[in-house]
Amino acid sequence: MSTEIESVLIENRVFPPFPNLVEGAAISGMDNYQAMCDEARRNPDAFWERLARENLVWDKAFTQVLDTSEAPFYRWFGDGEMNVSANCLDKHLNTPVADKTAIIFESDDGKVTSVTYKELHARVCQFANGLKALGYSAGERAIIYLPMSIEAVVAMQACARLGIIHSVVFGGFSSKSLHERTVDVGASLVITADAQMRGGKSIPLKAAVDDALAMGGCGAVRNVIVYQRVGGQLDWNNGRDLWMHDVSAGQPDTCPAASLNAEHPLFILYTSGSTGKPKGVQHACGGFLLWSLLTTKWTFDAKDDDVFWCTADVGWVTGHTYVAYGPLAAGLTQIVFEGVPTYPDVGRFWEMIQRHKVSIFYTAPTAIRSLTKAAESTPKYHPREYDLSSLRIIGSVGEPINPEAWMWYYKNVGGERCPVLDTWWQTETGAHMITPLPGVTPLKPGSCTLPLPGIEAAIVDEAGEDVERGKGGFLVMKRPWPGMIRTIWGDPERFKQSYFPPELKGYYLAGDGAQRDSDGYFWIMGRIDDVLNVSGHRLGTMEVESALVAHELVAEAAVVGRPDDTTGEAVVAFVVLNRTLPEGDEADQIAAQLRSWVAKEIGPIAKPRDIRFGENLPKTRSGKIMRRLLRVVAKGERITQDVSTLENPAILDQLSQAR
Ligand code: WTA
Repeated sequence: MSTEIESVLIENRVFPPFPNLVEGAAISGMDNYQAMCDEARRNPDAFWERLARENLVWDKAFTQVLDTSEAPFYRWFGDGEMNVSANCLDKHLNTPVADKTAIIFESDDGKVTSVTYKELHARVCQFANGLKALGYSAGERAIIYLPMSIEAVVAMQACARLGIIHSVVFGGFSSKSLHERTVDVGASLVITADAQMRGGKSIPLKAAVDDALAMGGCGAVRNVIVYQRVGGQLDWNNGRDLWMHDVSAGQPDTCPAASLNAEHPLFILYTSGSTGKPKGVQHACGGFLLWSLLTTKWTFDAKDDDVFWCTADVGWVTGHTYVAYGPLAAGLTQIVFEGVPTYPDVGRFWEMIQRHKVSIFYTAPTAIRSLTKAAESTPKYHPREYDLSSLRIIGSVGEPINPEAWMWYYKNVGGERCPVLDTWWQTETGAHMITPLPGVTPLKPGSCTLPLPGIEAAIVDEAGEDVERGKGGFLVMKRPWPGMIRTIWGDPERFKQSYFPPELKGYYLAGDGAQRDSDGYFWIMGRIDDVLNVSGHRLGTMEVESALVAHELVAEAAVVGRPDDTTGEAVVAFVVLNRTLPEGDEADQIAAQLRSWVAKEIGPIAKPRDIRFGENLPKTRSGKIMRRLLRVVAKGERITQDVSTLENPAILDQLSQAR
């Protein structure tokens, strides 16, 4: 852990909640919010018990709320039984929601298809029955490598229905990354598509699965089920490969949902940490669903007639919580979008909001920043050219949103009528943790404001002591909450070390630096570890370094982040080759080669923006790479720090000038 936290610009503008959103809100007014926080603080078990009973359908009621006997391996509602899919679908069947549109799917090329809750239930049941017929059952693991589609939601829900633990891998990850995850999770099933369409281009997925499985160690995989998205020729492994439509064909459209222990794992989602390989964050059925549903209701103040659009891919946690689970459990109509915000033009998001009359829009700062630039340079695609009057609430997730981007979003997309909800949370937290509420919170651009009721967020120093207001420190959660990570799949030790270091008194360590202002508002200052945030995607510097040194030309590599106007951070790699220092065109060629190598090893999101070659890296006499200095060099700034502990200070000049 490092305490090197850069200070943030603290904004003084305050935007009080809009009166029309306060009235009738799920949490309405500051007093109501405070009362809920007090209720949770006075008796946390009673608070969570009430919410779990009121919001989830239980097959067998729980008698214990929180079991701390094996802390930090907390168990929530641990003797209760329920089913996540039944709570998202079956629950609505005998209600008016049954005939309501569940998903409006818009493909890359603009074709729209939709399903009602009843139809979605039938499709999930048919596919679940098909999986059962193939012999799959609770506890097995399925890799899902699908594009944004109704089928992706069907696959996740069908797994949840049977208790098959899914692990969704983002379609932008390489076959190598897919392989790593398939092996780590011990998958017996892979669900993929022939290809995905993005920005008018077809990108093969099944071929990547074939490559991954050919890398060895995936012997447990019995089937690869393929959703036919694009059509055309495919390599086919008879006996192993099956079409998704064939698996569902002829199956009954009801399928009993398995009554599962609330602690049964719902999914494992890999995310980057500061060391080693990505870690498999494991979530539990009961707690995860409760927290997804509550935050969907509280944060977005979801109403029956809302049209909800979370633009995140199901390959990330946001697409789990706010596409596959939360909105369905809340009975909302939501948009699922296959494509990219820039195709066929940069007005795509605004045009879709207008056409589908979206009322709640949730996206990432990186999208806002790039669309801001595009709108300023091509006024035709400026959001003011579209009718966005259906919007009531707009949100942001994944990385800090800088005050300028916040203001642009607030003015131009929200029309100064919609609160901007800057939601802070993580793969590990399951759902929102610190966020404004539309009916409660005065907004300050750049702050994620206040913790949700039941969440004891705090800022502490290295010894776990609270720091004063206005001082930076580690963001922690002092109490467990139902939606929290349960363990790292296959590595309970790493779970303890990463999130509950002994010196922090048993608090959950988020890995972010933060500070609170005099109103108690939280301001996130970025990661305290070697994790980068590139376009809202977490990336470990170690992962990129390992990928680079796996290349035959590379002797050593160090990777750091550089602040970037659009992507938040950009990857900068300092590379020592095991040959003479290349110059000119040759250096460019090798850099290009290494960039595509990283794309192949991890995925295009990990490609270094900038590669600098040097004869060495700046190291201390004990051989430790001085990343702090590399970050300064990466920014193109002059080094003002003391470099006397460096073994080879001259190397800094070389790297500063390198291309
Ligand atoms: C960062 C995404 C500032 C943070 C849901 C966190 C944020 C990491 C915000 C988790 C925000 C997420 N303001 N930073 N509103 N939201 N982050 O696991 O560093 O992909 O630790 O979860 O993103 O990223 P993850």
